[in-house]
Amino acid sequence: MTSQNRNIVLLPGDGIGPEIMRVAVRVLKDCASEFGHHFEFAEFPFGGCAIDATGMPLPAETLAACRAADAILLGAVGGSKWDALPIGKRPESGLLALRKKLDLYINLRPIDLRPSLRSLSPLNADRSRDVHIDFVRELAGDIYFGEHRVESDASGERATDEAVYTTGEIERVAKYAFARAEARTGRLASIDKANVLSTSQLWRRTVTRLAADHPGVKLEHLYVDNAAMQLVLAPAQFDVILTSNLFGDILSDLGAALAGSIGLIPSMSCGLGPSVYEPIHGSAPSLAGKDVACPVGTILSASMMLRESFGLKQEAGWIESAVDRLFLQGIRTTDIAEPGMTTVGCSEFGERLHVGMLGALDRHERSGRGV
Ligand code: IPM
Ligand code: MG
Repeated sequence: MTSQNRNIVLLPGDGIGPEIMRVAVRVLKDCASEFGHHFEFAEFPFGGCAIDATGMPLPAETLAACRAADAILLGAVGGSKWDALPIGKRPESGLLALRKKLDLYINLRPIDLRPSLRSLSPLNADRSRDVHIDFVRELAGDIYFGEHRVESDASGERATDEAVYTTGEIERVAKYAFARAEARTGRLASIDKANVLSTSQLWRRTVTRLAADHPGVKLEHLYVDNAAMQLVLAPAQFDVILTSNLFGDILSDLGAALAGSIGLIPSMSCGLGPSVYEPIHGSAPSLAGKDVACPVGTILSASMMLRESFGLKQEAGWIESAVDRLFLQGIRTTDIAEPGMTTVGCSEFGERLHVGMLGALDRHERSGRGV
């Protein structure tokens, strides 16, 4: 086994961000000592806490550290304290700026219904079977990055949000989705609103043209309204879903709800710069400081980092099995609590995971395969 030295930048952010980050970092440290890697962690202000400290959600020092990192682990940003700020000055604009500056144009959000949590899904037993969807969301274009304008005159206000896509922007993310589908079951659903939007028509034309280079992929196109319905009625029909920034934002939350809790879902944002890994949930201000948040989305983001950025498949699997073992033992956070199970706080979930991992380490060493 080759040991790796890696620099990981941590952006805990706001709300529950710091609590869930602490748990995930401990998991990464346990993993490093188990497998003989060396992970260096450096924490930087980002989001609302960075606005408070420096006046900006993405300070230059934070951006510079991110550019130089091997990978970035992010908690969550935002909170009511900064809600009155205009667009462009809010914590969320730091997140968008980070995505843009690092050219992170792919956002991968895997929705897996873990067998031990299947009963949490709002879907009935039939529909929740075999749901493993990879959402590939375009992340650096669309209405998110067009011009946002508000004008006013005597008759009132008028707001405009411009949505823009270029062929190149669609091609680069679509190529990733085709490759992902090829590596899975070969089914790719591209979701748009081509019956109304010209950006969607360009999207559909571009994706259709690329399909010729991927004969092994079975491509279908769906309108976003129909896709939302199909995701609820028959989610197992989907394998890889490719969609634009705004539709991906909305549909991936719907997907997370199918998995039982938005707290469980990790994500990777990648492109030209170092990749950013973050849970797809927000900063949940109402839960912050109460030690009740679910750290699983962040823990699984950390394992995704190991697999996708560092090629450490075994290590990622080791973390994921430890999480699954806790679920099988009935250890749950509040959002995924069920009768007869043991409900624990965020830090206790981390503690139990740590102990469970050390248990696995003992077994590992006893079997003579220790590192
Ligand atoms: C997400 C979030 C962000 C987005 C917000 C916080 C700007 O909802 O990552 O899904 O809309 O992209
Ligand atoms: Mg979102």
